[in-house]
Amino acid sequence: MRVFVTGGTGHSGSYIIPELIAAGHEVTGLARSDTSAAALSALGAKVRRGRLEDLDGLKEAAADSDGVIHVAHRQDLLPSGGIDAVAAAELPVIFAYGEALAGTGKPLVAAGSIGSAGTLGRPATEEDPALPSGDKYNGTLRARNAVERAVVDLAERGVRSSIVRLPTIAHSTTDRAGFLPGLIALAKEKGFAGYPGDGENLWGAVHIRDVASLFRLALEKGPAGKYWHASEDGGTPFREIAEAIGSRLDLPAASVPIDVLMLPGYFGMFTNLVTMDLPASSLITRQTLGWEPVQPKLLADLDNGHYFPVG
Ligand SMILES: NC(=O)c1ccc[n+]([C@@H]2O[C@H](COP(=O)([O-])OP(=O)(O)OC[C@H]3O[C@@H](n4cnc5c(N)ncnc54)[C@H](OP(=O)(O)O)[C@@H]3O)[C@@H](O)[C@H]2O)c1
Repeated sequence: MRVFVTGGTGHSGSYIIPELIAAGHEVTGLARSDTSAAALSALGAKVRRGRLEDLDGLKEAAADSDGVIHVAHRQDLLPSGGIDAVAAAELPVIFAYGEALAGTGKPLVAAGSIGSAGTLGRPATEEDPALPSGDKYNGTLRARNAVERAVVDLAERGVRSSIVRLPTIAHSTTDRAGFLPGLIALAKEKGFAGYPGDGENLWGAVHIRDVASLFRLALEKGPAGKYWHASEDGGTPFREIAEAIGSRLDLPAASVPIDVLMLPGYFGMFTNLVTMDLPASSLITRQTLGWEPVQPKLLADLDNGHYFPVG
């Protein structure tokens, strides 16, 4: 298949491209700079110069391909407008793909979040749609949910569209900007690895190589209009993550009581996130696509040590 990939230089995209090429696909990646173009070439992809802001260029690239994987996002908008602005900029991109791919039956696979189904009091499944408006933690997931729903809705217009939902932590040896490096930096700064309350709330995780294989499978054979769950298991108690970080840093792990959590203090920019409890099942993904995560799981990957370089 000739696949157009955006975000090919990012954390997930830089694993998705080699995964596709190894499976025999021809990949064209979107590059907005010489540096990104060189990185895509090094991964074995053809380069299409352009950027997310050029919707006509995206339409043309999608129409020229047999399928699209979209994992680029406008993270430059994060400091000024937060995740709402990032997502708002993504909606026109999805609509552009829709125009190019409507009626073709070609696949479009984009990234989403396991949190988009909200808090259900049970593990979220692939059959739980993205909530139409926000969730209990904060309003900021609302705009991203609209992106997920726009992608899935394209199934009704003859696009084999689907969302790969990512858990909170996507880990790997090249994870530089995810939550784990942030929590590790926080523990170093504060002198202990904190967890909220009893730390029993579950955070989902997945190795980014397993994410890449799921994107490939969804592209190759995923039915239209589906959510897929890239979660390695039901979830890991936050306390165990803090304990693993503390153990590696030779620092204690300690509870940050819930009643002081919201005060400016330990968790800083993570305050709204750390109490998230988002168990998720990936049974339907495994059964439908034959996906099986094979890479080290979160605690094993932390124990590998690469998140804790010496010096
Ligand atoms: N739990 C969750 O919900 C969760 C967890 C992780 C990821 N995600 C989602 O998964 C997706 C992929 O994340 P990631 O961590 O792999 O991304 P990333 O490492 O942040 O990479 C972002 C990519 O987007 C590209 N990009 C940014 N602005 C662009 C523009 N204006 N034009 C063209 N390309 C542009 C970057 O290219 P350059 O090289 O040119 O900068 C880079 O390849 C995102 O949508 C993210 O929100 C969700």
